[in-house]
Amino acid sequence: MVSESMGERRADERPAAGAPSMAVDLGGVRMANPICTAAGTFGYAAQVEGFFDVARLGAVTCKGVAAEPWSGNPAPRLCETCSGIINSVGLENPGVRAFVDDYGEYLEGLERRGCRVIVQAAGHSPAELAESVRLFDELAPWASAIEVNVSCPNLELGGRPLGGTAADASEVMRAVRPLTSKPLLVKMAPANVAEVARALEAEGADALSLINTIPAMSIDVRTRRSRISRPTGGLSGPAIHAIAVRMVWEAASAVSIPINGMGGVETVEDAAEMILAGATAVTVGTATLHDPLAAARIADGLPAWVASQGATDVNDLIGAFEC
Ligand SMILES: Cc1cc2nc3c(=O)[nH]c(=O)nc-3n(C[C@H](O)[C@H](O)[C@H](O)COP(=O)(O)O)c2cc1C
Repeated sequence: MVSESMGERRADERPAAGAPSMAVDLGGVRMANPICTAAGTFGYAAQVEGFFDVARLGAVTCKGVAAEPWSGNPAPRLCETCSGIINSVGLENPGVRAFVDDYGEYLEGLERRGCRVIVQAAGHSPAELAESVRLFDELAPWASAIEVNVSCPNLELGGRPLGGTAADASEVMRAVRPLTSKPLLVKMAPANVAEVARALEAEGADALSLINTIPAMSIDVRTRRSRISRPTGGLSGPAIHAIAVRMVWEAASAVSIPINGMGGVETVEDAAEMILAGATAVTVGTATLHDPLAAARIADGLPAWVASQGATDVNDLIGAFEC
């Protein structure tokens, strides 16, 4: 474990003389730099602490947690594809109470060390999602924000994403918004981006996180079986990066709340592309699975790109893409 003093730093701390300012505000989440980790690819952050000082990151997003524990899908849950992986983890999680008991102290300390902690609420219906948000609001006062995962399948409606359409997304937001005064981020499904983004903004979302994995499948032609335990799973990694950049740009063009961009970010250049497309924060997911230092490496390298653009503040480059 890293001592608290080692990583101590505040989100409003001034950059070193000559270095660009990297602090960003993601809908009320004041981050010392734009780099965050993606839900489900960084555990609950404590597991990665041995690899580097996690407080170097602007924020971490914890894996999705439901009000009650879920056992997830059977193995195999992951398979490799060209430039990406397909997963069907099924959101295995211990439930909010056990999560807070086991990780609350570490995550509260991480907040004190200057790294914002975003907890993620999961559920299979708007009511389940609302219960997870309510419990987080009550039991995790140290969390900077709650991210609501509206890409989860709605089991009451045949498994379509909870927030895949504007109407469905609005219903979820109306259920969760009154339950917390914390910033609410929404993790969108990769569909109907502009229209869903507008609906979420109208119902009080503070920021939008996208993209989640893209439905995909992979078949072993010798056995004729799926390479994972389900016919389909979610594709992530470099294979989805260009799609993610396009969707981040569509969302940023449709709303005025900040965007947390993710999808196949592996390098400083990938992160810079997200910022130019309109992302205020950039989140690193699958890259961490093969390089635990990926997010830290990108956080360390990003100021040089900002300076190379002649900018003194990363905020001046958000959405600075020109056609
Ligand atoms: C193994 C695995 C588990 C994931 N679990 C979650 C999750 O719990 N909640 C969620 O919103 N997204 C989850 N995701 C999606 C990621 O947070 C991210 O949106 C997606 O993988 C795209 O980013 P990437 O290409 O950088 O991985 C998971 C992804 C992977 C690979």
